[in-house]
Amino acid sequence: MTPLKDIRSGFLDFFGDRDHRIVPSAPLVPADDPTLLFTNAGMVPFKNYFTGAEKPPHPRATSTQKCVRAGGKHNDLDNVGYTARHHTFFEMMGNFSFGDYFKEEAIELAWTLVHKEFGLEKDKLTVTVFSEDDEAAALWKKIAGIPESRIIPISTSDNFWMMGDTGPCGPCSEIFYDHGPDIPGGPPGTPEEDGDRFIEIWNLVFMQYEQQGPDKRIELPKPSIDTGMGLERMAAVLQGVHDNYDVDLFRHLIGASEDLFGVKAEGERQASHRVIADHMRSTSFLIADGVTPSNEGRGYVLRRIMRRAMRHAHHLGAKEPVLWKLTQNLVDEMGEAFSQLERAQPLIEETLRSEEERFQRTLGRGMSILEDALDELPEGEKLPGETAFKLYDTYGFPLDLTQDALRPLGREVDTQGFETAMEKQKETARQSWSGSGDAAPEAVWYGVREEAGATEFLGYGSCDDTGALKAIVAGGERVKNAAAGDEASLVFDRTPFYGESGGQIGDAGEILFDNGARAEVYDTIKRAEDLHVHLVRIVEGEVGEGDAARLVVDQDRRNRTVANHSATHLVHAALRDVLGPHVTQKGSYVGPDRLRFDFSHPRALADEEIDRIEAQVNQVIRQNDASETAEMEPDAAIEAGALALFGEKYGDRVRVLTMGRNLDAADAPYSVELCGGTHVARTGDIQLFKIVSEGAVAAGVRRIEAFTGEAARQYMLEQARLLRRSADALKIAPADLPDRVTALSDEKKKLERQLSEAKKQLALGGGGSAAPGPEDVAGVKLIARVAEGVGGKDLRGMVDEAKSQLGSGIAVLIGVNEGKAAVAVGVTKDLTDRFSAVDLVKVAAEAVGGKGGGGRPDMAQAGGPDGAKAEAALDAVRGALKEKEAA
Ligand code: SER
Repeated sequence: MTPLKDIRSGFLDFFGDRDHRIVPSAPLVPADDPTLLFTNAGMVPFKNYFTGAEKPPHPRATSTQKCVRAGGKHNDLDNVGYTARHHTFFEMMGNFSFGDYFKEEAIELAWTLVHKEFGLEKDKLTVTVFSEDDEAAALWKKIAGIPESRIIPISTSDNFWMMGDTGPCGPCSEIFYDHGPDIPGGPPGTPEEDGDRFIEIWNLVFMQYEQQGPDKRIELPKPSIDTGMGLERMAAVLQGVHDNYDVDLFRHLIGASEDLFGVKAEGERQASHRVIADHMRSTSFLIADGVTPSNEGRGYVLRRIMRRAMRHAHHLGAKEPVLWKLTQNLVDEMGEAFSQLERAQPLIEETLRSEEERFQRTLGRGMSILEDALDELPEGEKLPGETAFKLYDTYGFPLDLTQDALRPLGREVDTQGFETAMEKQKETARQSWSGSGDAAPEAVWYGVREEAGATEFLGYGSCDDTGALKAIVAGGERVKNAAAGDEASLVFDRTPFYGESGGQIGDAGEILFDNGARAEVYDTIKRAEDLHVHLVRIVEGEVGEGDAARLVVDQDRRNRTVANHSATHLVHAALRDVLGPHVTQKGSYVGPDRLRFDFSHPRALADEEIDRIEAQVNQVIRQNDASETAEMEPDAAIEAGALALFGEKYGDRVRVLTMGRNLDAADAPYSVELCGGTHVARTGDIQLFKIVSEGAVAAGVRRIEAFTGEAARQYMLEQARLLRRSADALKIAPADLPDRVTALSDEKKKLERQLSEAKKQLALGGGGSAAPGPEDVAGVKLIARVAEGVGGKDLRGMVDEAKSQLGSGIAVLIGVNEGKAAVAVGVTKDLTDRFSAVDLVKVAAEAVGGKGGGGRPDMAQAGGPDGAKAEAALDAVRGALKEKEAA
């Protein structure tokens, strides 16, 4: 039996031996491609090579690409666990020609590999071609000798491959393997094609067009080849099993899951184990590529996958977070081919565990609500959309999780009803991943890149240097000249200006042309990967392509930025030391004013942790060692322990920055990181580091903001000033402030309580000999008072008290606060058949400009805007009582 990993290497070597460059898998989050949720095919990283926007380093390539098909155009999530071949994560092996060979050689290579190398018999294979592609049909006959009866023309989109709504596309030809007559199903193109007997193992796309919009399709500059072979399917064929989940890799993962839960993968439990094995793969690889579970965009797809797996874990009996324990098994299986898995292992485990903890709180409760709803649901009816939405909204059940739970019972959700409630949220989610594109068309920058080459960056060593102007872009287009008053983007052959990347903002400064012209640079960005684009305003003269100039970076701004950038490296190392190795960078901002560092960590930092982090960073600053940079290959750097960002695509050579000495072992460095940014020469140049805030950005992601150097000193100075001003105001020493503030606040509370008590007493006439007693109106005892400064919520208690003082009678109290009146009326029980508090309160409310009021016959409340009329309101009530008596 050929192990899966040998099939992977066999494929790559086959094409490697035939002049294809073996390219490592790109990250699952496509770089600079806002049109795509996840990398979902092997060709995605090469998109620009096909369209001609970017020139490939070599005309042929081969790869095994990590793919996720969940959410977006190609979505397989719902089927995972229940079919023999669906996965959310899979590897797609492929060979690619960028305008080099085309149809004939592609078919020849494919045939040699499947038939001669992999040894598949001809009579087990069937191929499809696009119905208009007679050429492909003829080539299959000529090259492979496949009989016409097994070359099937297909006219549908099945044989016209598209990456998404836009992007490269073309007719395709698919190779099918016949798993034998024991399995139900028919050849492609027949009514039984959906059966499992004939399985597509390889798709050869003859790339010829680029879809640019719903109705716009143009020809590619040169016909190209993109092929895709699912590694898991091919492994099933070569290992003589029919089901992808029976190949070695999945047997091992499912075995580990059986051990973990103590439940065999048999009967209805089988689907749960399969889901867990599959979802552990997509989850772990997505986290390793920088995705964090959240409620929008990519993060939400990840959350859906994770929670779906967790529901199955619950079904298998899990009562506490357990899935994270399977990470090690996955690393054992796939860590060799994908080294980022091992690097990210602590992060994967921590992310899984905290998401499991979070979801545990509502999962059990949600499941019992679902079960109750099902008990009451008449046979054959769908689960109401509102119930599914409630589970979604309150208990964190993604819709597909609910559907998945109903599936074994043969029941469905009213998705229409769910959608209606969901529409709004969806809109928000769509907007949230609008992507990383740039306003000026990418093709413009790749054009400049092709013509002018990469910008040589001089800024590691100097801030003032010379260069020649290679291109001017204005209004999204190439132009020849720009003159005083114009805004333009300038590209030089070399520059000391740093282009914004890796969190560090771009340099500002000025450009002095030899011809006397002058431009102000307000920002510098990077385009087409390695072009430094200066965003300028021309302030004097006129400039044209070829002009020589002196480029002068604003040195002070740069120095402050650099200190902040170096400090982020130190803080990253300190966080890992203090909090643990699961801490990884999730983003950063490094400017001249401050630094911001986002990192994965499940809970708020304790004051003591913040202190230790700050202390460590300052300790390393005081070591004042020179920082060291070396250039090497990315793998060598990571091997040597350099921290790299998850999901980042690095070039062939990377810079590795080492700073400081380990605080416990002086012969080891403190911080080693891959970084293309600019940094301090010695750690002492950072001068001082001060954290000013720590808080949450998203679930599991925290943010630290900090100052360095003079900004840190200013901040501390300001804090001291505030302290002194507060102490002066109280005429005490600053050291006494905390105790005094506590004492003052306690005293204030006590006084407020006393004051409110006194006001009540006063209003009810108690506590003093001068206080008037109840009056007699129309034969009943009446207490009618205005209580200045008493609020509505105190009146009720006061009315009760007045009623008990009276024994039999009526109490009308009006509290006046900030010009407004609150009215409360109480009538003792013995009088309620003659007087209603509700009627009386209306009379009073009307007098203070209010409407209505409500309550019971013995107690009612109301309010009005006109507190100045409070006394008049009391008179109105007196009048009403007399009237009533007279009537
Ligand atoms: N892009 C094609 C596919 O995904 C072939 O690689 O099937």
